[in-house]
Amino acid sequence: FPNLAIVLALGYLLGSIPFGLLLTKMAGLGDLRSIGSGNIGATNVLRTGNKKLAAATLLLDALKATAAALIAQAVFGHNAGLLAGFAAFIGHLFPVWLGFKGGKGVATYIGTLLGVAPWMVLVFAVSWLSVAFVTRYSSLSALVATLVIPVVLWILGVEEAALVTAAMTVITYWRHKSNIERLIAGTEGKIGQKG
Ligand code: G3P
Repeated sequence: FPNLAIVLALGYLLGSIPFGLLLTKMAGLGDLRSIGSGNIGATNVLRTGNKKLAAATLLLDALKATAAALIAQAVFGHNAGLLAGFAAFIGHLFPVWLGFKGGKGVATYIGTLLGVAPWMVLVFAVSWLSVAFVTRYSSLSALVATLVIPVVLWILGVEEAALVTAAMTVITYWRHKSNIERLIAGTEGKIGQKG
C-alpha cells in the first residue's frame, strides 16, 4: 500500500503541472483560460498563434506523464508505470493548484503510452493525424485516437493497458463534452483557428 500511494502521488504531482498555462503566462500572452476554448492544453495554446509554445506544451504535458510512468516502472515494475501515468492524467485534469480545474488529458494520455507501450504512440499519431488531416478538428482527432488505443491493446492481448487506457478514454470523452456538443452543432473551432 505505501508503494501504491507513492506511485499515485508522484503521478498526480507531475501531472498537475499546467505547462500550457505556465508557458503562455511566461510569454506574456495572458491567462490561457480566457482564450479560445479556455482549456489549458496545447490545442488552445495554438489559438494564441504561437506554434512553438503549443508544441512545447504538447511535449511537456506528455513528458510529465512519461516521466511519472518511467520512474514508477523502474522502481515498482510495469503495472506501477501504468498507474503512475493514469495518476498523471488525473493530475492534469484536476490540478490542486488550479482549484482542480484542469485540462482534457490528451497529451498526458499520449505521454502515458510513451512510457508504458511506446509503439502505441505511433497508433495514436496515425489515428490522430488521419482525422486531423481530413477534418481539422483537434477534439475529434483525439476522440477517435483515444477510442482506437484500448481496442488495439485489447486485440493485442495487453489487457492491463487496455483496461487502464479504456478508463482514460471514457474520462477523456467526458472532458470533451462541450467539444462534442460543438462538433454536433457544427460550431467547433478548427486547428489553429483563433478565437
Ligand atoms: O486536447 C484537447 C483538444 O482535444 C481540445 O482542446 O482547446 O479545442 O477544447 P480545445
